[in-house]
Amino acid sequence: METEKNPPIISKDKSRRVAASNDIEVSTYLEIAEHKTGQKSVTAGEPADEPEREAIVIIDFGSQYSMLIARRVRELQVYCELVSHDTPWEKIASLNPKGFILSGGPSSVYEQDAPLAPSYVYEKHLPVLGICYGMQSITMQLGGTVAAGTRKEYGHAVLHLSNLDSPLFAGLPETMAVWMSHGDKIEQMPNGFSSLAYTENTPVAVMGNAQNIYGLQFHPEVVHTPEGKNILKNFIFMICGCRGNWTIGNFIDESVNRIRERVGDGKVICALSGGVDSSVAATLIHRAIGNQLTCIFVDHGMMRKEEVERTLVTFRQNLGMNIMLSSSAARFLKRLQGVIDPETKRKIIGEEFIRVFEEEARRIGKVDFLAQGTLYPDVIESASSGSKAAAKIKTHHNVGGLPADMQLQLLEPLRSLFKDEVRKVGSELGLPDEMVWRQPFPGPGLAIRIIGEVTKEKADLLREADFIVMHEIKAAGFYRQVWQSFAVLTDVKSVGVMGDFRTYGHLLAVRAVTSDDAMTADWARLPYDLLARISSRIVNEVPGINRVVYDITSKPPSTIEWE
Ligand code: XMP
Repeated sequence: METEKNPPIISKDKSRRVAASNDIEVSTYLEIAEHKTGQKSVTAGEPADEPEREAIVIIDFGSQYSMLIARRVRELQVYCELVSHDTPWEKIASLNPKGFILSGGPSSVYEQDAPLAPSYVYEKHLPVLGICYGMQSITMQLGGTVAAGTRKEYGHAVLHLSNLDSPLFAGLPETMAVWMSHGDKIEQMPNGFSSLAYTENTPVAVMGNAQNIYGLQFHPEVVHTPEGKNILKNFIFMICGCRGNWTIGNFIDESVNRIRERVGDGKVICALSGGVDSSVAATLIHRAIGNQLTCIFVDHGMMRKEEVERTLVTFRQNLGMNIMLSSSAARFLKRLQGVIDPETKRKIIGEEFIRVFEEEARRIGKVDFLAQGTLYPDVIESASSGSKAAAKIKTHHNVGGLPADMQLQLLEPLRSLFKDEVRKVGSELGLPDEMVWRQPFPGPGLAIRIIGEVTKEKADLLREADFIVMHEIKAAGFYRQVWQSFAVLTDVKSVGVMGDFRTYGHLLAVRAVTSDDAMTADWARLPYDLLARISSRIVNEVPGINRVVYDITSKPPSTIEWE
């Protein structure tokens, strides 16, 4: 191994000083970064006047893990953005990048038209960390060679460090478990690079040069690489010299200023549903511009028990927000009469929602902005689904097709945040836990949890049963552990017996799933006694329901909702 060619950026003493700790403190990094760059760091507890803007830019080559890299960087309190590999420098310069991470990706770098890192990645003289395909892109672009491996390497491998002085490995053990997922391998490193670590199958599992360009063949962002977070931490703090000033408090202050600047004395409307995203977006905007914001709450009659009342109390009474409530249940029910097909239900509710929203909005007079709770994953998703130029509007709450003639500008203050960050913003803004931790609830509401035709009687029945499910799951401490938990009113009726009487009532299904992103889900292994309590309470307290079943299918092959 050519350790001589790759002089340590920090002294051996300094790097080894943190070796005992697995979870290295940020202040230690600052100290080391200071040593490295000669710049004065702001140590923990020392107030910084204006935190310097800093960011890590992640160049996305389409890996399924790209978003995870962004999550990991944000967890280290460093702002980052995931951008497509063809993003021009002008678009990211204002972020003040401190370094680049090149993601993995499904292509092979030696194929024609394979995506490669933009030239500024190498021209700006900033640190670069290539992960898997990213490493191969570096190799290819800087004059090395990449070839197909004799066999694909997928899963666990043991990494052996061969250069203990590399700042990338500060504080890490000499061998560690890593997660591999690649078919190609580095055949020859570019000039000036040396191998810093190897596995049994991969002689160049980590490489680096004196210009702070590194490559990892494994994935540090996945949980199967237990030291991965510390490797990223080393790169971000020690090598890039980041300070970790991305905090929720900073975000709120910056957003409030930006919203004020952009809106001026204009008017903003927002469709409030009680969901986390729209609630936090509205609260943040309200903090910035007060009553220039009007929220429109459309009660389509398919909300859960007490949802409308609770939302109004929180926003109108407690937060003093301007809310227009449109009680339109009858109107929606009328249009849903006789409709059984789930997609038709969705379409009707979507269309009617827009109509009601539009009618309410017109009563406000001239409006300039439409606020939406678009999150970062929505932004990335719409950018990667081929419609880069026209970032798609979130259709989530059925306000996507909003009145073209109203010429509203979009205000999306959460578009750089992940869901857990949104929750933190909500808490910091004073939203109650009940709002901040609310489980996802579909726009069409209970209409797609009533199998068959929707009637007011069925909706009332489901509301009662669903309330019991939610109450018991919360009481047992499972509400935050599961992704969603709810009741579904089926169109099956079955015979039962209560006292001396035969009953013929509805069959109710209880669904509780665990999931990370709703793309896949597993049925939640709730304790039997909790299920027994839910079942017993429902059949005793909700007349008309005499049987309860628990849904034990995962997604796929099922979906989370029944319709
Ligand atoms: P499925 O049932 O497809 O649901 O596994 C995945 C996630 O999406 C939610 N969902 C919806 N949300 N409008 C929404 O706003 C809808 O029509 C809709 N359908 C499903 C569902 O609750 C789950 O979180």
